Amino acid sequence: MARITLRQLLDHAAERGYGVPAFNINNMEQGLAIMEAAAAVDAPVIIQASRGARSYAGDIMLSKMIDALEEMYPQIPLCLHQDHGNDEATCATAIKYGFTSVMMDGSLKADAKTAADYEYNVDITRRVVEMAHWVGASVEGELGVLGSLEHGGGEQEDGHGLEGKVSREQLLTDPDQAVDFVRATKVDALAIAMGTSHGAYKFSRKPDGEILAMNVIEEIHRRLPNTHLVMHGSSSVPQALQDMFNQFGGEMPQTWGVPVEEIVRGIRHGVRKVNIDTDCRLAMTAIFRKVGASSKVEFDPRKFLKPAMDSMRELCRERFEQFGAAGNASKIKVLPLSEMAKRYRSGALDPRIGGMTAAA
Ligand code: G3H
Ligand code: 13P
Ligand code: ZN
Repeated sequence: MARITLRQLLDHAAERGYGVPAFNINNMEQGLAIMEAAAAVDAPVIIQASRGARSYAGDIMLSKMIDALEEMYPQIPLCLHQDHGNDEATCATAIKYGFTSVMMDGSLKADAKTAADYEYNVDITRRVVEMAHWVGASVEGELGVLGSLEHGGGEQEDGHGLEGKVSREQLLTDPDQAVDFVRATKVDALAIAMGTSHGAYKFSRKPDGEILAMNVIEEIHRRLPNTHLVMHGSSSVPQALQDMFNQFGGEMPQTWGVPVEEIVRGIRHGVRKVNIDTDCRLAMTAIFRKVGASSKVEFDPRKFLKPAMDSMRELCRERFEQFGAAGNASKIKVLPLSEMAKRYRSGALDPRIGGMTAAA
């Protein structure tokens, strides 16, 4: 069995300079696609479930499905992560169901649509860190609000995401505040805002530094070289998938995602976890459209789901290779949660704040 914590996995990724894609799942087919891809290229896995995924599949179904995937692929270190936890209870119940890592997203209030202030974020994140570390689980925090630098708005998916508009300042993580935040909360990983947003409609043109501020990542990494950074909203929304979706009856307006080369640049500057949901959705639903349009008499769901799974598996395999995660699963010796808890208690895993500005 190889259930790994986010912290141990990202420490390994940092030592060896790679990034790990964190794929969202809601169902068995997505879980199988990810694990098949990982096994094919020997990559460690982060599977994440949103609150929406937990209520769609149900906690019992979801956690037993992960148990099954773990049993089927014992050679693959698998981190199960709560995506965008909105409060203490979401994070605590996730851990109860076998999640080895939680995101406490205190950039938004518990309603998951109102921007929170800094003090609220520090306070709730710090408390979740304390609770999670007692049992050895990891915590990702978020500083800065995810949203578009083009129009100042966030995204809303299944009721999660900023509602309305915020200032450009709120949409860009402040590097000095990031140092203070990591010191005050002791998070294991820090999600930062620099112009990405969830969903397919991230950019109205191929992004440049004006609307995808990769320099923010570089600046934060300079000040926090030992902190694992997380990029949300990092689907690339491949043109070929948009085209397939539209060729078979879809009406997706032309859009741009985060180019893979920008993510790879981020990985060179401390990004260790890269969140991808939309690309997996699109890889599957473009195939649903294709099968539906090509055979109008087809009614066996497996005829839709099998090729959709193949399509998602290929996408996952590509990302494992592009981010450098491939070839690393077999190099990790997974530590149990109890050992991680011991290390937290001893202070051995406290954040190491370093770098030019923090020391100055
Ligand atoms: O948090 C964003 C992910 O894409 C999850 O989306 O809330 O629709 O499951 P969801
Ligand atoms: P995408 O919508 O770009 O796939 O982002 C997913 C994400 O950030 C989940 O937390
Ligand atoms: Zn996200």
